[in-house]
Amino acid sequence: MASLPLTQPLTITGSSTTTSLCPFPRNNSILNTKRREAHVRRSLSSNAGSEEASSQWPQLGKVDRRNVLLGLGITGVGSNPLAMADPIAAPDLTKCGNAELSDGTVLPVDCCPPTALEIIDFKPPPFTKLRVRPVAHKVDKEYIAKYNKALSLMKALPDTDPRSFSQQADVHCAYCNSAYDQTGYPGVELQVHNSWLFYPFHRWYLYFYERILGKLIGDPTFAIPFWNWDHPDGMKMPSMFTSDTSSALYDVNRSPSHQPPYVIDLDYSPSQDAGKPAKPYKQQVDENLTTMYKQMVSGANTQSLFFGGDYRAGEPPENSPGSVESRPHIPLHIICGNENNKNGEDMGNFYSAGRDPLFYCHHGNVDRMWSLWKQLPGKKKNDITDPDWLNATFLFYDENAKLVRVKVAGCLDTKKLGYVYEQVDLPWLKKKPKSKKVAKLAVGAAIAAESTKGLTPLSAFPIALKKAITVKVPRPKKGRSKAEKEEEEEILVIEGIDYDKSTAVKFDVYVNDEDEAGPEKSEFAGSFVTVPHNTKNKEKTYTKLKLGITELLEDVGADDDEDVLVTLVPKSGNVTVGGVKIVYEY
Ligand code: C2O
Repeated sequence: MASLPLTQPLTITGSSTTTSLCPFPRNNSILNTKRREAHVRRSLSSNAGSEEASSQWPQLGKVDRRNVLLGLGITGVGSNPLAMADPIAAPDLTKCGNAELSDGTVLPVDCCPPTALEIIDFKPPPFTKLRVRPVAHKVDKEYIAKYNKALSLMKALPDTDPRSFSQQADVHCAYCNSAYDQTGYPGVELQVHNSWLFYPFHRWYLYFYERILGKLIGDPTFAIPFWNWDHPDGMKMPSMFTSDTSSALYDVNRSPSHQPPYVIDLDYSPSQDAGKPAKPYKQQVDENLTTMYKQMVSGANTQSLFFGGDYRAGEPPENSPGSVESRPHIPLHIICGNENNKNGEDMGNFYSAGRDPLFYCHHGNVDRMWSLWKQLPGKKKNDITDPDWLNATFLFYDENAKLVRVKVAGCLDTKKLGYVYEQVDLPWLKKKPKSKKVAKLAVGAAIAAESTKGLTPLSAFPIALKKAITVKVPRPKKGRSKAEKEEEEEILVIEGIDYDKSTAVKFDVYVNDEDEAGPEKSEFAGSFVTVPHNTKNKEKTYTKLKLGITELLEDVGADDDEDVLVTLVPKSGNVTVGGVKIVYEY
């Protein structure tokens, strides 16, 4: 198991109003101009600080580094070890630019933080008591009042204070809507989604948000709540965020149709579900639990499946998203944002997501999934050891408004950061999808029948997904033993995905299926799903979707087959797919 000791044993229970665009208070040009000038004024001194700090962190040059690593026998995970470059470095705040939207009407959104004279390398402050992040739907009135007070104080700070709520919200915009280029690689965008940076970036982000709130109310034990959407009791927006419109926790830019008692759909896609009646409660809960099982258990058997693809200095972003990042993380963003707002503000678009206090509660649970995953059985369910991941850095302002540099390696153990999550049972742990359980003969016949319906040849890729297509994909290995399966996960790779970044995009993937009926079935392998965000990369960025299918193939009785039929079903947005293949990965 991973370094995290299992001091919190897992509990397993039975299976079982049209508004216009939100106001952009800081988007007036006067303020923007002032901030730009401030950036320029401070750039010299800030650079000095940054050089001084980085000299304490010597880094090997590319070639040296690779030789050293190979000499030590250290190889990368889940990808070509020879591809090792350098870790993604913290952005240069003095070079922060405008993060415009990509929907045609350019809204000048200034997400840039103030610059600072000094950058401090983060050291965890001493604490006497672990902060316990509570389940949002179970907290009492006192807790809600305390959080409301803390957030009110944060919202009352001047916009120029990096700890103010508007600045906190903009942290997300800057790191996600291409306000930064990668340090040392002008023109190459820095992006913290769709790669292995997703979990550590958001963990650090929440850490400082929580510490600032605690400082504002003079309570260093204050811990933010988490939205327990993986549990039937937590499958609606937590009421502390919705029931009191005068609360600091309330946000007007939320979906009117997904307010409680609406039961969230962890597999939601916008165009498919608009206007449709909700599914019966029991069915929705069961589907959600199966989705959780797939994303945390059967579909997350390797580090790259769980964390997402590697992302190194100088490389284009958006290599491939991790399982939970895809679903349910993205569908929940879309569900919460106001569908009547042009860009889905707030939660439905990365640039504005941090403006909704519910964002931090949602991400609390995403962060908790990282802690939980490492405690699940499976020898590969532990943290990545690739130095390019461990040494990647970000910048945040801390509770004392000091600019600090943090490393991925510094956030792997939440206890070292002073917090843990309240323990609740995990009903999805035993929620395997319904197995097809049909005779081998019947499966063969079904596939043969399907084949005559007109398969799309692999040679036809790249294909714009306008309607569902089915392709026959060869399996390089068949009839693998249990030991072989434990050693190597069979992975379905949908590669060369090019998609419209200005809208929410979703397509579903089925294996050996006839009716594409949804997430509760074993044939449902997963989805590609995105939140609108901008990219300045003028060249195309191709993304991969990787789906672990070892257990799925057992469930559908395809273990010994030479091929599988893969069906891609478009749900929303414009997508082109470059190809489909099967690989095996440690
Ligand atoms: Cu940075 Cu939920 O996204």
